[in-house]
Amino acid sequence: MKDVLVFKELAIEAAHQVGNLLRENFRQGHRFELKSSFRDLVTEFDRRAEEIIVSLIRKHFPEHSILTEEGSVDPTDRAPYQWIIDPIDGTANFAHGFPFFAVSIALYYQDEALLGVVYNPVHDELFVGEAGGGAQLNGQTLRVSQVETLHESLVMTGFPYDERLVPKHLTWWERFARKTQSLRRLGSSALALAYVAAGRADGYWELDLKPWDMAAGVLLVREAGGRVTDLEGNKLDLNRGEVLASNGKVHNAMLQVLQGRA
Ligand code: IPD
Ligand code: CA
Ligand code: CA
Repeated sequence: MKDVLVFKELAIEAAHQVGNLLRENFRQGHRFELKSSFRDLVTEFDRRAEEIIVSLIRKHFPEHSILTEEGSVDPTDRAPYQWIIDPIDGTANFAHGFPFFAVSIALYYQDEALLGVVYNPVHDELFVGEAGGGAQLNGQTLRVSQVETLHESLVMTGFPYDERLVPKHLTWWERFARKTQSLRRLGSSALALAYVAAGRADGYWELDLKPWDMAAGVLLVREAGGRVTDLEGNKLDLNRGEVLASNGKVHNAMLQVLQGRA
């Protein structure tokens, strides 16, 4: 396996290039198109951002495979190294001028996370996680919070695009609204995970996600000392689309709420 440093430098360079594009074009009156539903948006900047990242990777590591949200590459082309990219996570926020969105770039080796980079260009916050090497925000080491109970917790989630999942999600929303100190819907799963890693939130759950929404963020949480599972407490599977991430201390309490046992 090659030195992760080379990959890390490339991912950070890509995040900064895309960050410049997004910062310059933020709040410039974007037109958007719809994808799977009226909530699922894409802008020209999602596509342009993806092109920047993909061409950088292709130039330096043509043998690697790439999985992207906007589908500019062949997802069936599998190599041991796989980049998993969301060029803008939080497109609805970007399109509305709400400053919580991020570029999310992850590198996996034989399905294990090696590297995760999440960059919010508006706040100039660069979150970087490296397997076994910890997680940093703008160079400062990150640790998850020390909060031990849901009554003291700020917890985050997101709402599924799939209408059929909304009732189940609203049940969870109500349960967490009653049991936690604060409940948030941020609009970017990559940033929600980064915020758990940074100790700004104590837990986060969501379902109906895609691998690129969480591939980088889950590594940040693990490397900051947190815990990541699926909604039953089992090993995370990026392809199943559900995630529970926490500081570890409130994980079981969150699982109990999700399972209706508390
Ligand atoms: C979305 C965001 C949002 C989550 C959605 C995702 P996108 O990603 O991460 O927080 O609730 O499920 O699809 O479409 O802005 O890249
Ligand atoms: Ca996304
Ligand atoms: Ca996206």
